[in-house]
Amino acid sequence: MNKDELKTIAVIETGGTIAGTGPKGEDANYKAGELPVERILDSIPELSGKVSIKVYSVNHLDSNDISFHDYKVLKKLCERLEKDPEIDGMVITHGTDTMEESSFLLNLVLNVKKPVVMTGAMRPATAISPDGPGNLYQAIQTASSPASSGKGVLVVFGGDIYSGRDIQKQNGARIDAFSTNSFGMLGYTRDADVCIIQSPYRDHTAQSDLTDIELEEMPKVEVFYIHEESDPELLSFMLEKYDGVVMAGTGAGNYPRAIQDLIENYEGECMLVRSSRLPEVLVYPSPVFDPSGKTVPSYRLSPQKARLLLMLALKKYGKDKDKIKKCFERY
Ligand code: SIN
Repeated sequence: MNKDELKTIAVIETGGTIAGTGPKGEDANYKAGELPVERILDSIPELSGKVSIKVYSVNHLDSNDISFHDYKVLKKLCERLEKDPEIDGMVITHGTDTMEESSFLLNLVLNVKKPVVMTGAMRPATAISPDGPGNLYQAIQTASSPASSGKGVLVVFGGDIYSGRDIQKQNGARIDAFSTNSFGMLGYTRDADVCIIQSPYRDHTAQSDLTDIELEEMPKVEVFYIHEESDPELLSFMLEKYDGVVMAGTGAGNYPRAIQDLIENYEGECMLVRSSRLPEVLVYPSPVFDPSGKTVPSYRLSPQKARLLLMLALKKYGKDKDKIKKCFERY
């Protein structure tokens, strides 16, 4: 390949199991985010002469510790690389535990059109058969493909290409840990081939109205997990303390009578979103559980994704319930 035709991909490292090290040959008992991404790239000679890589080291985190400060740093860097004519696409290496949160958040706040692809691994770099190098290779190929432009933040894992909006970690051990259930994937990779077969429908990245938000001093939003004996006193405490509460309801966003009574009589400022603890669900307005329309339904979003959207919506629109509702319908 002519050197001028080589694509240049920015590989942005944040940590995770993909950079984990531990007892040699073992899948467990490792520390995430230890190894510089250059060492993982060294183990993929297949990239040599096919793509040019520029590494940006942002963090060496276990993704459970990622914060809005880190999101702000990532946003600034990705938007700088968007304007850099030398860069064709971006790959972010990230822990799998909160990949679904970060991919969803970045999908809403990055003002970019170039491909942004996230990946990680379930096994550390010191395992007998680490999955990181294969995932990183396929993420780089995906970020090099013109078909990945304007698709929002993508996640590549185990050869599958997903929208960062819909991805969910569903297994704590298997290397195919991610899925979007029946909502489907956007495409797949095979060696260096990238095949995109669908586009995300909901607004994202450069189409989003949330890209101008300063990701600092964010509203405080927590998740209230519903079960058959959920304590209304705990929810009352949360309604006092937080700007927003997302309920991880049963079924299609349901809750016991005692919780319903509390919500029915609540006149305060805290914004309530009804989501569901099910991995696959659609939560609509409910004349049965919320006859006075006190809550905003999360539709397809999990409680952890609904929390992030509610934070962004509160930051952008304050406590304007109609505008917040529209955000959940739009994104
Ligand atoms: C992490 O999320 O940083 C650790 C777990 C993983 O990457 O699989």
